[in-house]
Amino acid sequence: MNQSKMPRHFLSLLDLSAEELRELIERASELKTALHAGRHQATLKGRTLAMIFEKSSTRTRVSFEAGMTQLGGHALFLSSRDTQLGRGEPIEDSARVLSRMVDCIMIRTFEHEKLERFAAHSRVPVINALTDLLHPCQLLADMQTFFEHRGDITGKQVTWIGDGNNMCHSYINAARLLDFNLNIACPEGYEPEDKVLHPGLDRCRIVSDPAAAAIGADLIVTDVWASMGQEEEQQKRAQDFAKYQVNEQLMALAKPDALFMHCLPAHRGEEVSAAVIDGQQSVVWEEAENRLHAQKALLEMLLLH
Ligand code: CP
Ligand code: NVA
Repeated sequence: MNQSKMPRHFLSLLDLSAEELRELIERASELKTALHAGRHQATLKGRTLAMIFEKSSTRTRVSFEAGMTQLGGHALFLSSRDTQLGRGEPIEDSARVLSRMVDCIMIRTFEHEKLERFAAHSRVPVINALTDLLHPCQLLADMQTFFEHRGDITGKQVTWIGDGNNMCHSYINAARLLDFNLNIACPEGYEPEDKVLHPGLDRCRIVSDPAAAAIGADLIVTDVWASMGQEEEQQKRAQDFAKYQVNEQLMALAKPDALFMHCLPAHRGEEVSAAVIDGQQSVVWEEAENRLHAQKALLEMLLLH
């Protein structure tokens, strides 16, 4: 464990330069090819990743855990229910202690500010595995998936349909880094936060009509209407988002070879129709698989460079 220099954190996609993001995507695809050919590379032998989850997860937990195993390291699952974090031990103290024992820490939590406080007191790299504000790990996989299917995303048109949430915010950051155009269609009152949108306004625009936003798109993306922590708003949101479903009519407005992505878990019949998510243009299963490859590349970047 190198404690002499400041750790490199990944709290936002903007913690990477555009060049680093491209390198990471390339390495992710390389690791994917190697894994599919049965070749394991133990580049993180003997390293430990602590994974703190204050919200549920399937993909993030399994991809980080399997990824560490494949790279020769180990991952520790720490639920706030079973650790002292859930009993009120200060986040700063938890960061100080854990970062003296492990090589990298991944956190999924509610307030982004909590993640930032944790990172400020950690001696080792901290990875944002989703906060209410951002979900940058998902974007690594989404961008890898687009590059693998369609090549470079620069100059392409991406359409976000639905809530201006953590995923939408991360798409705004990706548009800034990789220079693509992002049309965001969300109901009034559910727009992305100004502090995230404002710096990206040269590439991102809010279009309240989903049909107008979808015309000519190379990629259409959506996410759940109620995110984790918003369960009580589910009913109201279902009404407010009723016109924001990605269905075949909407996909027909995009380019004929447009892709459909969703970070999952999905609710068929709500934000996406079954015909779209289970249809020809959907790449959601590969997008989910790419979480594994992209995060392995991320772990290497943070721990080996
Ligand atoms: N997309 C995603 O982060 O999935 P999980 O909530 O299952 O980790
Ligand atoms: N916006 C969703 C993403 C889940 C991966 C949530 O925060 O619950």
